[in-house]
Amino acid sequence: MGKQLLLENINVQGISTLEVYRANGGYKALEKALKMQQSEVVDEVKKSGLRGRGGAGFPTGMKWGFIAKPEGVPRHLVCNADESEPGTFKDRFLMQNKPHMLIEGMILSSYALGANVSYIYIRGELLYVYHILEKAIQEAYDAGLLGKNILGSGFDLELYVQCGAGAYICGEETALIESLEGKRGNPRIKPPFPAVSGVWGRPTVVNNVETIAATVPIILMGGDEYAKIGIGKSTGTKLISACGHLAKPGVYEIEMGLSTEEFIYSENYCGGIKNGKKLKAVVAGGSSVPILPAELFLKTAKGEPRLMSYESLADGGFATGTMLGSGGFIVLDETASIVKNLWNFTRFYHHESCGQCSPCREGTGWMEKVLHRILEGHGKQSDVDLLFDIQSKIDGKTICPLGEAASWPVASAIRHFRAEFEEYVNHPEKIKDVKHYYNMRNLQPTA
Ligand SMILES: Cc1cc2nc3c(=O)[nH]c(=O)nc-3n(C[C@H](O)[C@H](O)[C@H](O)COP(=O)(O)O)c2cc1C
Ligand code: SF4
Repeated sequence: MGKQLLLENINVQGISTLEVYRANGGYKALEKALKMQQSEVVDEVKKSGLRGRGGAGFPTGMKWGFIAKPEGVPRHLVCNADESEPGTFKDRFLMQNKPHMLIEGMILSSYALGANVSYIYIRGELLYVYHILEKAIQEAYDAGLLGKNILGSGFDLELYVQCGAGAYICGEETALIESLEGKRGNPRIKPPFPAVSGVWGRPTVVNNVETIAATVPIILMGGDEYAKIGIGKSTGTKLISACGHLAKPGVYEIEMGLSTEEFIYSENYCGGIKNGKKLKAVVAGGSSVPILPAELFLKTAKGEPRLMSYESLADGGFATGTMLGSGGFIVLDETASIVKNLWNFTRFYHHESCGQCSPCREGTGWMEKVLHRILEGHGKQSDVDLLFDIQSKIDGKTICPLGEAASWPVASAIRHFRAEFEEYVNHPEKIKDVKHYYNMRNLQPTA
């Protein structure tokens, strides 16, 4: 096992309480940060090379450096705890078990950004985590870690948790901001970016839960030390939520640079494929990223071992590579149907599209219909090309990246598993279990 910077002490009984968290070194990073200049805290984060863990991997220190500082205008830090990406459940795990780590990260990051009012926006379905956070925040207020003059430093912070109603699109940062302001969660056109005009039109930084939690070990150990962990521009550790046909699904903390093979097969991590089956494909970064067949997931097209890093997973571009994304690993064994899996994803994106852009609103529904008719045994010879064509008309032509999130899985599934689609079209008599699949979810096939 590699270093456990985030999941350390996760199994200590009572670690979700302030008392036990503090007894295990909690809030030491905050004490240290509050004795530093705000700009020094930002510099440590810059030196660490930390990249946003919400999906895009944008350098956090650089993002913090972009925040506008107009005279007399308040700034805000917003923690994105929406986590609705299929296959991703790492933030929930961290918040549920170590809520004070997120709160500590929020306080020191707000200090670095000069924000005196900050928010955690949490997905509606995670109501029980909302209550855990509320309890932990109250403990922090009672101990003088939130509110006025935190630990005698002169720094004030009010921290609020806002519960969404449960929409995937509210994880997109500008939709999140709209929702936080009490409006329908429709993404905004950028620019202006939140760093200039975010919550209430004020300069705002939006960061993922894991990103904010990672500032705690960064301040404790120093940015340079943190940057020594990992590989190349993928520094530090990363939480991976691994699900699907695995012997040991779960949330793991890996050091960046671990090989994908070790992650899947080692007993320290996923323990191999369930029931000794063969690995067929992996969706490595949450449902939005391109799917890779086993051979390209384990080795790059150049034959080099594939590593768990932003660069290695992207090696080969979209032709033979993918993305680390949010670290939501969905693992499929040899019995899995790529077409059914894709229909499931596409149905999700159609349902979650906010409807502002025609290519996304119409295209996701159209792709769902075509996939559905293929699965029902009524596929046409031209359907595979039609699907590819529809996704290409969404990619890059929408207000927010949900359009791409819907199109990339379709493009990559066809690119790597075209023969499977053609088999469904040419031999509908071989299609099994589709009705059963609908029934399991109490769904009615659409016409
Ligand atoms: C449709 C959609 C859903 C998203 N959902 C999340 C989410 O649940 N959590 C998250 O941190 N980022 C999500 N993002 C990315 C955010 O827009 C934003 O980039 C991120 O919160 C920035 O934080 P980071 O720099 O710490 O990664 C989503 C993006 C899109 C387009
Ligand atoms: S791409 Fe889809 S989700 Fe994003 S703004 Fe357009 S319609 Fe809404």
